[in-house]
Amino acid sequence: MSGSQYTARKSVADIVASGEAGEHKLTKSLGAFSITALGVGAIIGAGIFVLTGSAAARYAGPGVMLSFVLAGLACAFVGLCYAELSALIPVSGSSYTYSYATLGELTAWIIGWDLVLEYAMGSATVAVGWSGYLVSLLGQFGVHLPPELVNAPGLVTLADGSTVQALFNVPAAAIVLLITMMLVLGTKESARLNNLMVVIKLVVVLAFIGFGIGMVNLDNWVPFVPENTGTFGEFGVSGVLRASSVVFFAFIGFDAVSTAAQEARNPQRDMPLGILGSLLVCTLLYVAVAAVLTGLVPYQKLGVPDPIAVGVEAIGKPWLSLLIKFGALAGLTTVILVLLYGQSRIFFTIARDGLLPPVFSRVHKSTGTPHLSLIIVGILVSLAAGLMPIHLLGEMVSIGTLFAFILVCGAVLYLRRAESEVFRPFRVPGVPIIPVVGIALCLLLMAGLPMDTWIRLFVWLAIGLVIYFGYGRHHSTLGKRMRAAGKTK
Ligand code: ALA
Repeated sequence: MSGSQYTARKSVADIVASGEAGEHKLTKSLGAFSITALGVGAIIGAGIFVLTGSAAARYAGPGVMLSFVLAGLACAFVGLCYAELSALIPVSGSSYTYSYATLGELTAWIIGWDLVLEYAMGSATVAVGWSGYLVSLLGQFGVHLPPELVNAPGLVTLADGSTVQALFNVPAAAIVLLITMMLVLGTKESARLNNLMVVIKLVVVLAFIGFGIGMVNLDNWVPFVPENTGTFGEFGVSGVLRASSVVFFAFIGFDAVSTAAQEARNPQRDMPLGILGSLLVCTLLYVAVAAVLTGLVPYQKLGVPDPIAVGVEAIGKPWLSLLIKFGALAGLTTVILVLLYGQSRIFFTIARDGLLPPVFSRVHKSTGTPHLSLIIVGILVSLAAGLMPIHLLGEMVSIGTLFAFILVCGAVLYLRRAESEVFRPFRVPGVPIIPVVGIALCLLLMAGLPMDTWIRLFVWLAIGLVIYFGYGRHHSTLGKRMRAAGKTK
């Protein structure tokens, strides 16, 4: 452990042992089904219910089906790497923990901070999508919420062409606070409700495919990939790539399963099953939904906040439209739940290492949840959901997540060399090819995102460095131990 604190690593054995020890122990209450449901709960959400439409309308046409395959493929490669690491290191904290074991404390902190983009901003993004479907559902009953209070601050153009100055997205902020309260009450209870809502969400998606498939008009699939307009990303091959970067958001969440490893009853068996199983189910469903949606409605008409509802209108069953909107709301609720859960556990783990204040690692005596971490996260996320527009949130989530994924693939490669003797309950086949292809595919998807998103990523990471050098470096448990032993430079 001698040398610089920044590159000091925890050994795999150390990490597993610290997860098992002491007053910060979490309750092991999750079985294989709950973990898979947690995965599906996190994955199917705003991506399919909201973003598919605009990706088809603006970038890829019916070719959005190919975009889903490309994004799903990238996630499968990364998913295999997650499966190996989460079974090897079954503690909360996801790629933060893995990088502590591989690249050292400073990189681990950067990744932990980056994960806020994925989890906290991700839940805020989905909350904004939730608000959109709520407005659409209430509208069907003739209830029209004031546009000033259902949009992020800024000018909003209404259906009649007039504009209003929006103030705050109240439903988006409210749903975040409500779910936070539920999570504070207990993981097991939340997982139960989550299982139920995941079932509703699946029924709705399957109903859409089942009722829609017979009414697909094959003419709508021609041309399958509309010709490029001359601008990079607008149809053609580059459009399919740009759409992949957008619908990549739809796959985010399978990795959230890894944050539950410490609360799994049998992580060695259940983690790989949960991650890969939920990813496979979702990829098949997405391609089917995209096929039906673009077959029902000409892709040009899909650039709306509730594209699935537009597809259902083409089926011509008003009751199905209601069901789909309810299902979308339930579906989006589960995603917010899992992402908030993941964020609070990541902060919990970082705080246990001393890089964040101890308030984040306090566990409530009777509920066994990191309640204070949850409450702080919930309040901050609800503010983000109320104040920021969906496209801005969504792009930040995608770039932050892809960055973390690259590090995870790198961690598998590194650990295979640095800790080659440790037993791996699940091994990625074909190393180094699979992690390397995973990294290449993530870089390809990042390349599809606009430059200002890249700039925001660097600003965010710079803020993280200020926090590390202002607080974490001095309070790090590992750093303190090294100083006590006189081992730091
Ligand atoms: N994959 C999640 C969604 O589509 C984040 O909402």
